[in-house]
Formats: sequence, C-alpha cells, structure tokens
Amino acid sequence: MAKNPQRVAVVTGGTRGIGEAISLALKDAGYTVAAVYAGNDERARSFTAASGITTFKWDVSSFDDCKTGMEKIAAQLGPVDIIVNNAGITRDATMKKMNRSGWDEVLDTNLGGCFNMCKAAWDGMLERGFGRIVNIGSINGQAGQYGQVNYAAAKSGIHGFTKALSQEGAAKGITVNAIAPGYIDTDMVAAVPPDVLEKIVARIPVKRLGKANEIARGVLFLVADDAGFITGSTISINGGQHMY
Ligand code: CAA
Repeated sequence: MAKNPQRVAVVTGGTRGIGEAISLALKDAGYTVAAVYAGNDERARSFTAASGITTFKWDVSSFDDCKTGMEKIAAQLGPVDIIVNNAGITRDATMKKMNRSGWDEVLDTNLGGCFNMCKAAWDGMLERGFGRIVNIGSINGQAGQYGQVNYAAAKSGIHGFTKALSQEGAAKGITVNAIAPGYIDTDMVAAVPPDVLEKIVARIPVKRLGKANEIARGVLFLVADDAGFITGSTISINGGQHMY
C-alpha cells in the first residue's frame, strides 16, 4: 500500500477504543495524526504521553467547533487529507423509554459529526484534488438492534451519507468509504448488559468480540494513496455476524 508521510489524518474519538487503534495504526504507518476527543482529558493526556500523537478537544456535534478545530489542526500540522469519522456515542433504550434528548444526542454526534467534519475539510480537499474520508458505521446500522433506534438510524445514515458524498468526490480525487464494525472489545460494548452481550457473542461465527486494531487495518487499506478506485464502499468487519 502506498503511504505518504506528508499526509495529515484526523481521527475523531481518536484517543479511546476503536479510534485509539486507528490513530496508532496511522502513526505507525507514517501519517501525521491529530486525534480529536470530546471530554476525557486524563485519557487524552496518557494517550499523548504514550504515543506522541497531538490531541485536540472539541465536540463534533458542534458545527462551529469543527470548523475552528479543523482550522487549528491545519495551521499546526498542515492541510488535512484524511478524515476518519469515528466519534460515536450510545444512549440505548427501548422506544418506550427513549427520550428526545437520547435521540438528539446520538444523531447529532454520530451522524451530525460526520457532516460537520466533512464540511470543514471538503473545500480544501477539492482545491488540492485529494482526500480520503472513512466513516465508521456499524453492523447495527445495517441490521438494526433492539434498543437502538437512535444509534441504528444514525449509523444507517452514515452508510447513506457515504454513498452520496462518494459520488460528489469521485471525479475530484476524494474517496469516501465506510467501515461497519461488528461488536468490538471496547468500553462501548462493555457497557452492554453482560447477559445480553453473552447472547450476542454466541451468534458471532468467529466466536469472539473483534479487536480495535482489526478495524484499524481496514482504515489503513482505505486511506492509502493507491486506494483511489475504492469509493462508496462499505467494508463489514464483524466476525461473520452479518453478511451485507
Ligand atoms: N430481542 C428481543 N427482546 C429483547 C431483546 C432482544 N434483543 N433485548 C431485550 N429484550 C426484551 C427483554 O427480554 C425484555 O422483555 P420482557 O419485558 O418481556 O421481559 C424487554 O425487552 C426489556 O429488556 P430489558 O430488561 O433489558 O430492558 P431495559 O430497558 O433494561 O434495557 C436495552 C433494554 C437497553 C435494549 C438493553 O437490553 C440493552 O442495552 N441491550 C443491548 C443493546 C445493544 O446491543 N447495544 C449495542 C451497544 S455497542 C454498539 O452499539 C457498538 C456497535 O456499533 C456494535
């Protein structure tokens, strides 16, 4: 895979879980990485101390914060060529118990964040004739999941967003792809009630949770300079749980 160390990559939710693995894999491959995080300062500090990766703090659900944050990254590290929209939250509840704020927070962060980040970088990518955008969707956006109408809608939206934006970028050197992870061994999945999680894992043909670096592997593949013919695609990395 062709790599270009000059390229600057921004990973949202980049200091923990899947995002952390993506940030580290990109750095190891020679990219200049900026990891964006929303709240956990202590984790961000230990992440930077261990990896040397610069972190930036803002909430991706804020359009204005994405704009100013991305300008700051460009000023500090150089023009942004690669965005990995990984930041995501859950507010799981059945429809009966879900309130409007649980819907809004998940849609605004998981899907709105994707728009805000792409919008902030899009004009620059068009001007330079190069861009790589990877959106982290989910098996639950493909197949649905009990207790996740908000999350499934947002992640399903990400898959539609990816297919639409890829058509706008295709002739301009910008690829837009998605990865749909299955159940990965992260804090987010650890929050699923143990009895529910046990049943989910029993249905995964590979018979285990995925590892965060198994998602990062897919990201590296998609952001490479010579991946220019891959656009509008979704790579499912889910241990065979859902074949889409
Ligand atoms: N299918 C059918 N029925 C289900 C069900 C399922 N998958 N899950 C729960 N139920 C039923 C229960 O049996 C129960 O039925 P009864 O009332 O008839 O006994 C009823 O729904 C309520 O279940 P709970 O007691 O669990 O209700 P709760 O309100 O405490 O919690 C829940 C509901 C929030 C959905 C909880 O079950 C839960 O957290 N489930 C896991 C959801 C999940 O998988 N989230 C993924 C998070 S990780 C992630 O999102 C990353 C990714 O991309 C993969």
